Amino acid sequence: MSEPLLQVEGLCVRFAAAPAGALAIDALGFAIRKGETLALVGESGCGKSLTALSLMGLLPKPDAQVVAGRILLGNEDLAAASPARMRQVRGGRLGMIFQEPMTALNPVMRVGDQIAETLREHEGLSVRQARAAAVDLLGQVGIPDPRRRVEDFPHRLSGGMRQRVMIAMSIACKPDLLIADEPTTALDVTVQLQILDLLRKLRAERGMSLLIITHDLGVVAALADRVIVMYAGRKVEEAPVADIFAAPRHPYTQGLLAAMPGTRGDAQDWDTPPRLHEIPGTVPSVLGRARGCAFAGRCARAEARCSELVPGLTRFVHDHAAACHRLEEAIA
Ligand SMILES: Nc1ncnc2c1ncn2[C@@H]1O[C@H](COP(=O)(O)OP(=O)(O)OP(=O)(O)O)[C@@H](O)[C@H]1O
Ligand SMILES: [Mg+2]
Repeated sequence: MSEPLLQVEGLCVRFAAAPAGALAIDALGFAIRKGETLALVGESGCGKSLTALSLMGLLPKPDAQVVAGRILLGNEDLAAASPARMRQVRGGRLGMIFQEPMTALNPVMRVGDQIAETLREHEGLSVRQARAAAVDLLGQVGIPDPRRRVEDFPHRLSGGMRQRVMIAMSIACKPDLLIADEPTTALDVTVQLQILDLLRKLRAERGMSLLIITHDLGVVAALADRVIVMYAGRKVEEAPVADIFAAPRHPYTQGLLAAMPGTRGDAQDWDTPPRLHEIPGTVPSVLGRARGCAFAGRCARAEARCSELVPGLTRFVHDHAAACHRLEEAIA
């Protein structure tokens, strides 16, 4: 197995407005290896985007901040890096694409100029070189007639084409890690599949690592090597993708999979990507999180200790871990 590219250790994120002790991300740890695709899944509000924004140094300031933990890219701790350094890292070693490309694209700038600007800033290319590279990148992400398309403003493009432009911009400087936060959610199904194909192709061509954030288990099955399931700011399960589908151990993960239409384990047969929102109840808010396991209130297997103590993460097979007081029964 190749060496880790990025290692997150004990990451804690806190909102200034939250009561003392309430963390939006609580002691999150994970690693991404070179060339690996890691999926981060979980319901709305569980902290997926905050995790991505922490890695990119883009948490909303001054509302949210990293209060503990390290984000190691090689030997460098990004959690301690200066804003100027983080500007270099973004669009350098780390790239990110967002759910809604319009939030990241400048509406009054031609798409070619936006890509060229990134290349001039990070790679020091001349105007002419950057322009040629922008045309080339638009071609690589499957935009037809790129020589003409570089002149377009974002609103002239379809949603799928805008997402392609966003991807072109994020890979312009050959990042080691591409973070994709719900990259297909805003698109219709056929376009979603095209974007997934594009991500797969780029990953293979460039050997980059991918952190994919999604509600969509179809996306997980299509792209991921490994999966982290988050619940209320904590990691509740982590496993290779096949094990998550075949042998989920945390009651929350089991609920997510059981709520899927169709079958479990044969992801190839899914026509419509299933979504993760059918477990009764809702994720407790960051502000209202009590003691114990955050899932206890929705868990059919909860017992007294579950609302008292936070379960630790237990690694019961070398690459499969879960945080549940009743894990022993689940794996028995
Ligand atoms: N500015 C803010 N102030 C207070 N709480 C916030 C703020 N921004 C986000 N949150 C809270 O932080 C938690 C995590 O948010 P995050 O955006 O990471 O969720 P997510 O997993 O990405 O959800 P989704 O799937 O809906 O994108 C949520 O409970 C959200 O309400
Ligand atoms: Mg999000």
